[in-house]
Amino acid sequence: MTGAAIRAGLQGAVALALLLPAPAFAQATDGKALYEGKCGGCHSLDANRIGPAHRGVVGRRIATAPGFAYSPAIKKLAGVWTPARLDQWLQAPQKLAPGSKMYLTIPDAQKRAAIISYLASASPSMPKR
Ligand code: HEC
Repeated sequence: MTGAAIRAGLQGAVALALLLPAPAFAQATDGKALYEGKCGGCHSLDANRIGPAHRGVVGRRIATAPGFAYSPAIKKLAGVWTPARLDQWLQAPQKLAPGSKMYLTIPDAQKRAAIISYLASASPSMPKR
């Protein structure tokens, strides 16, 4: 095989990889972009900002990000964040926890699902305490 043929083969492989993104990856990217666009003004995965840090939030007890000053309203909620509860939260945080410091709602169910699966991908399974 000549050098040119090897180069052409490599270029072909790279082009193919770019043309065929795995669907799961495309969805995760979408959720990440939505998260950064809709939530990133107040939240990040690893730092408390206006809202608490989100890494590990799926499966975590509600209102327990270390060092974040939660409202009494959200602290009244018991249990852990499941995808179903996050879906309720993103539809109406003021309904789930009246008086909470978060007001943003995401009316579109598909967008909520994409954001929640992004949060789940940033939540390695943790021991449930
Ligand atoms: C304008 C600022 C703001 C935006 C935008 C925002 N949040 Fe929040 N979020 C907060 C605040 C403040 C809290 C703390 C609520 C409290 O203490 O009552 C919070 C709390 C939360 C919690 C509870 C976390 C825990 O540790 O129990 C989750 C989950 C959450 N937000 C998800 C989201 C998601 C997902 C988005 C984007 C779709 C988003 N938030 C957008 C301000 C915001």
